Amino acid sequence: MSFQPELCRNESEVESKLIVQYLLPKLGYSPDTWHQEVTFGSIRLDFLVFANQVVPFVLDSNSPLSVVMEAKHPNQNLNSHIRRLKRYLTSLNVRYGLLTNGKEIRIYHRVGAEIQLVFKCLGQELGVKINEIKALIGRESFQENYLKSERSPNLTDTNSSESILLPGIIENKQDVPTTSFLQAQPLAHHHKILQNLDHPSSEPQRHKKVKIIAVYHNKGGVGKTTTVVNLAAAIRKAGKRVLIIDLDSQANTTFATGLVKFDDENFDDIKDSNIRHVLESEDFYQIPEVAKTSQFSDPEIKVIPSHINLMKYENELNQNESSKTMLIQKLEGVKHEYDIVLIDTPPSLNLYARIAIITADYLLIPSDLKPFANQGLINVKEFIKIINSFKKMLRKPPIEVLGVLACKISTNAKFVQHTLPKRLAAIPERYGLKVLETVIYERDDLAKCAEKTQTVGNMEIADPLSVLDFKPDSMAAREFELLGKEVLEKIGMA
Ligand SMILES: Nc1ncnc2c1ncn2[C@@H]1O[C@H](COP(=O)(O)OP(=O)(O)O)[C@@H](O)[C@H]1O
Ligand SMILES: [Mg+2]
Repeated sequence: MSFQPELCRNESEVESKLIVQYLLPKLGYSPDTWHQEVTFGSIRLDFLVFANQVVPFVLDSNSPLSVVMEAKHPNQNLNSHIRRLKRYLTSLNVRYGLLTNGKEIRIYHRVGAEIQLVFKCLGQELGVKINEIKALIGRESFQENYLKSERSPNLTDTNSSESILLPGIIENKQDVPTTSFLQAQPLAHHHKILQNLDHPSSEPQRHKKVKIIAVYHNKGGVGKTTTVVNLAAAIRKAGKRVLIIDLDSQANTTFATGLVKFDDENFDDIKDSNIRHVLESEDFYQIPEVAKTSQFSDPEIKVIPSHINLMKYENELNQNESSKTMLIQKLEGVKHEYDIVLIDTPPSLNLYARIAIITADYLLIPSDLKPFANQGLINVKEFIKIINSFKKMLRKPPIEVLGVLACKISTNAKFVQHTLPKRLAAIPERYGLKVLETVIYERDDLAKCAEKTQTVGNMEIADPLSVLDFKPDSMAAREFELLGKEVLEKIGMA
């Protein structure tokens, strides 16, 4: 079968006739290995193709095995799309990008933060050039490279960058508008990530200080708990050592991490050892003894549980000035054991929310961007202001707001295209708050994975999983991987 470029009269024909019907099958990709119209936050890819479905798919490390393909209208000049392709490849850490308008086919290779043109041909040459393309981004050659790199993991980058030099590759540097595109970046960074993933617990102490992130909004139901649990899993899978602290008396995080293994309150093993005890006593209940190991994620994550009776103790704790700084003090004791602490908070302005913000270095504000949540942002800002003056007294820097995280966002195409950008823009305009680039859309998988149960004898107990463990290649899992990556970058731990 040969390809006839004149059959592609518009962008959608470039997608269907060139990419779906010709290129993908020729390169060995069956329909289950590629996805069309994939959205990651503000990024929308025409095609995302996997040579190997690595489970879980970690955008940070395994993207060498994936390709982004972008189709353009035949009258479009590909030069004007290079910048955007570069942004896609670098922000998603994907190794190869194919750009085509039907008349011309180009392949770019990402090296570090730059992309290089490694192949170019005309649409009518495709039949004779297909083997060269196959050698670069064909499924089989990727798999061979992957096996090679498995045998000698340290050579992963070297192996794939050698592929730029494969014989027969046309390199037409004149077509690339700025020379900066051609400057390859040092590969050391990528090696580091690979090593960390191989040995997450033996990661060298690159960051002296454990970074504490509070996830807070004074409105309920906006996705705080969902964010804490799945972001923790994403960050853990990226090789960081994570501790979750549940400071909400509703104990939803405690449930969502599977720590409630009893269905009769007589067997409640959390009542006598939870976050309340940590806050209450200076000499007892240190973090290592209260933190429980949770299997909602693999690798496992430690969680300090909460309990419904936290409400009852709020007044009592409030009398005790030292309870406000107890968590700071006790976290000092485990600073070499964790890289990141994530704190879930109640949807209120109470003592526990205050403690979370006093303790944390960073703040993430999940919001569904609806009117009530937006109005709540005014309270959040005032609350932060008051607590920052308290932090100043403690000689602690003010909490750094990472931004508002759009959560539970409808995937309706019209909404995403027209309403969402306006709602996102309104946050900095009206409330002076930053917005994270990652968007967490409304996905059934997120509710399903948290509600998973297990029957033990005649008892049904909660057996939740993070969405990354429940459905590693779901959109929800990818969105949380992206969020993990964005958060790590923002706090200087990428
Ligand atoms: N992105 C999402 N897609 C679908 N359901 C979601 C999403 N985020 C949260 N939910 C569901 O919405 C409800 C409230 O979310 P939750 O994370 O508990 O909010 P909060 O902690 O702010 O009260 C839960 O039932 C949860 O499963
Ligand atoms: Mg919650």
